[in-house]
Amino acid sequence: MKNILFAASECVPFIKTGGLADVVGSLPKSFPKEYYDARVIIPKYRVIADKYKDQMQYITNFYMDLNQRQQYVGIFSMVLDGVTCYFIDNEEHFSGASIYDGMPWDLEKFAFFSKALLSVLPVIGFRPDLIHCHDWQTGLVPVYLKEEFSANEFFRGIKTVMTIHNLKFQGVWDKKDIQRITGLPERLFTPDKLEFHSNGNYLKGGIVYADAVSTVSQSYAEEMKMPFYGEGLDGLLRARSGDLRGIVNGIDYDEFNPETDPNIPHHYNVGNFRRIKGKNKAALQKEIGLNEDPKTMLIGMVSRLTDQKGFDLIAYIMDELCQDNVQIAVLGTGEEGIENMFRHFAWKYPGRVSANIYYSEPLSHRIYGACDTFLMPSRFEPCGLSQLMSLRYGTVPIVRETGGLKDTVQPYNEYEKTGTGFSFTHYNAHEMLGIIRYAEKIFFDRKRDWNKIVERGMEMDYSWSASALKYQEMYDWLIGY
Ligand code: ADP
Ligand code: GLC
Repeated sequence: MKNILFAASECVPFIKTGGLADVVGSLPKSFPKEYYDARVIIPKYRVIADKYKDQMQYITNFYMDLNQRQQYVGIFSMVLDGVTCYFIDNEEHFSGASIYDGMPWDLEKFAFFSKALLSVLPVIGFRPDLIHCHDWQTGLVPVYLKEEFSANEFFRGIKTVMTIHNLKFQGVWDKKDIQRITGLPERLFTPDKLEFHSNGNYLKGGIVYADAVSTVSQSYAEEMKMPFYGEGLDGLLRARSGDLRGIVNGIDYDEFNPETDPNIPHHYNVGNFRRIKGKNKAALQKEIGLNEDPKTMLIGMVSRLTDQKGFDLIAYIMDELCQDNVQIAVLGTGEEGIENMFRHFAWKYPGRVSANIYYSEPLSHRIYGACDTFLMPSRFEPCGLSQLMSLRYGTVPIVRETGGLKDTVQPYNEYEKTGTGFSFTHYNAHEMLGIIRYAEKIFFDRKRDWNKIVERGMEMDYSWSASALKYQEMYDWLIGY
């Protein structure tokens, strides 16, 4: 039996802002229990729901030296679905109204978390054979481990994996401030280690110091080595390409299951969606103020409203698109400009466009379970989970061919009668509109073919079974099972 520890800033069901939380919440429970003892460690944020906080058990506390002062480290735990989760408590860092506060505040918060999570291991008596770190917030874990902790016998030989879910966020700030905050020695702030264009960079530290690096799709693993997608780290990623893997995400097939999902009013499967799914469409139209029209093509979007997701393309063609027989259901929060763009079109096209500018897990499921298609024209997409959820719920994805979208959605080919969705190549609004209209043509004029696309999508397997094996292979390669 080997011990694996997942270290991350988010984990479903405790706390989520995006797909990272889904991955950290579902991958650890996908490994065979007799093979790994996989545990998770995240911060104990004040905004975690009370129903979880009430179940956490206090273990102990101690003080840790960071940023020239002694800082409180509390440790709690609970077991969920057979997975032990640890929570690091510190009110100064984790009691905000949201989990991220932006720079520079997040710098100390996640330096604290990274150092604290290593410090608690001997105290709780759990020695991982491997620590699996996720995104820049845990980039300093491999650095602290090798530079500070491995002097202690307990830590010697612990391996690390750094998984990049989003290269856009790296934890970059003034070098001197980072040195002071992290307490890491000046000699580490060189271009071959933590220095990045005369700043300091947490994620870069993780990539340099981890024993292996991975990202969440094969296409993104290739893209990130190019300047356009590399966010300034493409050179380093090319240098580490021997240890860099792309492993596509899965989703939790128990949670995302149209046959049992408690959030959707009418359950269905690949055999009966033709008869039943329309009832969910009618219910959703009613719920979010759309005209109750069974014939229209209902397009869904559930997303963080950020630049990454291609909303400028959508804004550009909204008026043209709304001339067609379509309805648009949006659920998301994020940049004010994008939120207001959707509010504007909802005002301009009442009953046709519904802008739901908030976060709601249950409504997201109802959108996946009710729409005809799901639009995701991302500028870049390391993996993307929304299109996987859509496929599972028989909602045909329309995506741009980038990163994980390219790897998981097979474009419809009307001659060969293959494909699970629709896709376009260039980041161009009219290329996107062209493909949406092609989808409309199949939807309105060739319903049999459309339903076959739905069927093929629902039959794909994007559970964790295949990808968990690939992680297993990577872990075993490092820890030598
Ligand atoms: P990213 O991690 O870049 O945000 P993903 O597609 O990997 O993109 O994952 C997004 C996840 O967040 C999906 O599970 C999606 O359903 C969910 N999500 C995004 N915005 C909302 C929202 N406003 N309400 C509910 N769920 C949301
Ligand atoms: C990031 C990416 C998204 C990916 C998710 C989980 O948030 O933007 O593409 O699916 O992480 O890996």
